Amino acid sequence: MNTITLHKAHSLRGEITVPGDKSISHRAVMFGSIAKGTTRITGFLDGADCRSTIGCFLRLGIGITQDGDHVTVCGRGLHGLSEPKETLDVGNSGTTMRLICGILSAQPFVSHLTGDTSIQKRPMQRIMAPLRRMGAAITSDNDNNCAPLTIRGGKITGTLYHSPVASAQVKSCILLAGLYGDRPTTVIEPSLSRDHTERMLTAFGADITSIGASAKVIPCEELFAQDIEVCGDISSAAYWIAAGLIAPDSELLIKNVNTNPTRAGILSAAKKMGGQIDILNKRTVSGEDVADLLVRSSSLHGIRVEGPIIPTLIDELPVIAVMGAYADGETVIADAAELKVKESDRIASVTDNLSAMGADITATEDGMIIRGGKPLHGAAIHTQKDHRIAMAFAVAALSAEGDTVLNDADCVNISYPGFYETLSGCIGR
Ligand code: S3P
Repeated sequence: MNTITLHKAHSLRGEITVPGDKSISHRAVMFGSIAKGTTRITGFLDGADCRSTIGCFLRLGIGITQDGDHVTVCGRGLHGLSEPKETLDVGNSGTTMRLICGILSAQPFVSHLTGDTSIQKRPMQRIMAPLRRMGAAITSDNDNNCAPLTIRGGKITGTLYHSPVASAQVKSCILLAGLYGDRPTTVIEPSLSRDHTERMLTAFGADITSIGASAKVIPCEELFAQDIEVCGDISSAAYWIAAGLIAPDSELLIKNVNTNPTRAGILSAAKKMGGQIDILNKRTVSGEDVADLLVRSSSLHGIRVEGPIIPTLIDELPVIAVMGAYADGETVIADAAELKVKESDRIASVTDNLSAMGADITATEDGMIIRGGKPLHGAAIHTQKDHRIAMAFAVAALSAEGDTVLNDADCVNISYPGFYETLSGCIGR
């Protein structure tokens, strides 16, 4: 499927279970691989990015079997990885690339890493600088601070690192290297990013202390296998939250969604815009906050989205911009320059595509300004093969007049296989 055509929906109704959380699925495979014993994962996200993580650890000598969303990882302990005979290919996955570099920096062998054309443009200096400080020999093969990368791993020196960006990928990379250090390692972020690594590594037996936006790891002898139940991804639920709020006569129940406060910024932002969302059946699953979300059609108004909330909704900003276009008044997204270095430049891809649909939107250095309430019309959407752009514009299409055509529409398989099928299932007839 290269293109898909979407039309206006007059109502959205139904019960949706979103696929497993991408960040948690990656980490379960990675931590299971360097733990002693068998880690059994259920609810695993069977998308292209998480498959890349499995592929890399298979090449590092770990026995992993997958049956849909069930994955079994036969971990070989902190020092059990083998030198890979071939280049490790992370595909489109920034999480695989950045987290694995932390682990490989501490291994007594050489690793070569690469990925697709998008990953080869994404900044790796943000992990190379701290890893070098910790003693790793990590180089960019083309000398441009991007992948392909070569790592000659070895002894790791613990460090105190003030990260210039709030990035869970950077934080996790450093904490993983820090597990192997000669002394504790602390990462301090400008504001707190998602904390799945801290939560899950603790469950695997690591000694991690988190205070505000700082996380400290004490080097350890071993991690121990766990059974992990992966909850649904709030970043995937975000499309249904937005669609259910924007489309008329709609009511969607989204089940089993991760509501960890370091991920749930979309809920506060959507409520602040006037969205009716009930958070039901709150519980804890494998150390993560989980709930069901009941979303109803709402009349939305513009808000400012900026400051420390940004890392808690960074992947949801494209669809929040779409909500802004359908809301009355102005929505301002600021402090979000990180959008430029995601799977595509998301400031450009959101503003170009929303403008093509007739929205009044201006790109800024660190975000965008949307003057909402103008009726949108269908358009040809350039997804840039960015899964989050494809899904955000599928949502935009549901309330636009006329046909919207997404190119490279199958990029949704990176994080949400079955997205279009679920969408057709809840369009009211
Ligand atoms: C992720 C962290 C975020 C997010 C990405 C997944 C993770 O990236 O955008 O989709 O699993 O750690 P940054 O940490 O670079 O912001």
